[in-house]
Amino acid sequence: MSVITCVAPVNIAVIKYWGKRNEELILPLNDSISATLNVEYMRAKTTVMASPTFKENKIWLNGKEESFENPRLQHCMKELKQRARKNTDVVNWNIHVCSENNFPTAAGLASSAAGYACFVYAIAQLYGVEGDITAIARRGSGSACRSIYGGWVQWHVGKSDDGSDSFATQIAGVSHWPEMRILTLVVNSSRKKCSSTDGMRRSIATSSLLKYRVDHVVKDRVEGIIRAIKEKDFKAFAEITMKDSNQFHAICSDTYPPLSYVNEVSRRIIELIHAYNELRGTTKVAYTFDAGPNACLYLLEEDVPEVVALIQYVFPSDTERVEYFKGLPINPGSLS
Ligand code: PMV
Repeated sequence: MSVITCVAPVNIAVIKYWGKRNEELILPLNDSISATLNVEYMRAKTTVMASPTFKENKIWLNGKEESFENPRLQHCMKELKQRARKNTDVVNWNIHVCSENNFPTAAGLASSAAGYACFVYAIAQLYGVEGDITAIARRGSGSACRSIYGGWVQWHVGKSDDGSDSFATQIAGVSHWPEMRILTLVVNSSRKKCSSTDGMRRSIATSSLLKYRVDHVVKDRVEGIIRAIKEKDFKAFAEITMKDSNQFHAICSDTYPPLSYVNEVSRRIIELIHAYNELRGTTKVAYTFDAGPNACLYLLEEDVPEVVALIQYVFPSDTERVEYFKGLPINPGSLS
């Protein structure tokens, strides 16, 4: 028997991925950029056991058995086996996989990113896969390819039809911007009504704004935010981050029938952040929302106490909970 346990953190996109040009290979319409959280905070933990005595492959997610026949799992397994170290018996054994998240699953908090990054990384270790595995993680969930690295990460759109050039690379490492923090405001932890896969499919079919964004907007934003990250220019970084989140949710509204991931509390958070930035006379905080109502705030460490106090004052109740996840980031490659 062979056993391995890995942990992988979530990543929070500042330039959003929305829309696939190839669904099966999970090839995106545009580049996306994110930061990977510190693994102590929001993460998936996956244990993989391989044994010649196991009769079939099995997987449990958060204690519940799921089907191993899931095509995305199968695609990852196929690619991992193709890349396995030669002369290793373990590839021919069945596996049992247990994975759990320490935060709400499928609530627009990048749970599938952490989950698939962890799954692919763990099995890559088991099979002795060498070299880049981000394109394999991409086959599980697009955004998972960005959680393979710590720090600031870019997922390249790629040009080829086979997806060989659609992988993730690090823009800047874990220690590049040590003052940067992310605050996650859990507005609602229930599962989202429309999965990102269905949402993307619907936006591609109906939103002209999505096409406009891909053709005319994202390229400049990607260049601008890479510059801002490299120069640690918080103001420029924050402005691009908020504009990109707003445009993503505008695309959701432009989709027919519309997708509404943000809710009234999310909108109040947006107003609050703009009012706070105005009061402070400069941009101190940036918000971003994925496919759910929960806010992720990017800010510098020195501003955390005041912003946490403000959030707790404005949203005091249990249902409008604030969780503070401090610290970016860590490379899951350093995990065992
Ligand atoms: O990787 P998926 O299919 O869960 O899609 C993620 C899409 C967003 O979270 C909304 C944006 C992103 O780039 O992470």
